[in-house]
Amino acid sequence: MLKLSIPVQEFASHLLKWYRENRRDLPWRKNSDPYRVWVSEVMLQQTQVKTVVPYFEEFLRTYPSIEALANAQENEILSTWSGLGYYKRARNLHKAAQIVCEQHGGEFPPDLSQALQLPGIGPYTAGAILSLAYGKPVPILDGNIGRLFSRYLKIEGALEGSTLAQLRRFLVQLVSEASVAESIRDFNQALMEMGALVCTPRNPQCVSCPLAASCIAYEKGLEKTLPQPRTRRAVQEFHYTVALIARGEKYLLTQNREDTFLRGFWEFPRIQGPPTSRLAENFKMTHGLHLKVRKRAAPVSHRITFRKLNFHPVLVSLQSPEPQQTFTWTKPGQKGYPVSSYIQKILKSLES
Ligand code: ADE
Repeated sequence: MLKLSIPVQEFASHLLKWYRENRRDLPWRKNSDPYRVWVSEVMLQQTQVKTVVPYFEEFLRTYPSIEALANAQENEILSTWSGLGYYKRARNLHKAAQIVCEQHGGEFPPDLSQALQLPGIGPYTAGAILSLAYGKPVPILDGNIGRLFSRYLKIEGALEGSTLAQLRRFLVQLVSEASVAESIRDFNQALMEMGALVCTPRNPQCVSCPLAASCIAYEKGLEKTLPQPRTRRAVQEFHYTVALIARGEKYLLTQNREDTFLRGFWEFPRIQGPPTSRLAENFKMTHGLHLKVRKRAAPVSHRITFRKLNFHPVLVSLQSPEPQQTFTWTKPGQKGYPVSSYIQKILKSLES
């Protein structure tokens, strides 16, 4: 059992002093508006700070309020999100904004159990919004913070299951202590910042760490060994042949109706498997397109969570009459026709 036997006041004062001197000037830290905190925390899930910054600014320019987001079209939102990946986040953000407008008077609910009922809001995001925006003494636990405490407390074993549950309980107690609770906004941000800048996965910067004097992993020389890696889901590989049919700067795109990945996104007509001699027949059967293959190009791979997708582009010309409703001639990236970043990757690979 992890006990709250750490020097809480010293921990908090060293951490907060370090944060006030070293914090990065990030756009979502300008004020503690719940909508800004919400959008930033959703974008920062699985995505690095430097990638998020320009998207965050553009998203707030396009949808400056929860109401503006709730009233927008999903297609438009996906286009603005295009390139950030994990599109379910954008869909959930949109749905949750609508619920907040319908059921909470347009204000993100400052209550944990209500917040947790919104789509896309799990314990981490709810904790971040409630603490950073509303100053509530709730803990947050993401990969960065988990790593910091697994070293500071010398937690052995991977951070999952009952070990993770224990750490959560420890953090609930920690943030209820007065010296932490009174500065919860900075305290939680400071933990994230430490995880990002000092207590990094490889080569932690223990010599400049404000917590090193009481860190057990540092004392025992275990800072590079902890935390122990979690068991990861195996990567699965998939192969697709994609037909590139150009007309000026436009390409023939079709909307993905599959549920496996990127549902609703526009894409090059695609069939399963790498190219074969029956390619043209397969495109005819699957898409009703009569194609003539001109050239094959080098495959391009793209990771979506545990899937490694290998796209094999073929440059083709269209022999059949004008394709029907399910297709569009569009310049990839055009508003209203969201595309995944793998589409741009393929187009770029053809230039080289
Ligand atoms: N990662 C997740 N949330 C963050 C935040 N608010 N600031 C910096 N990095 C983060």
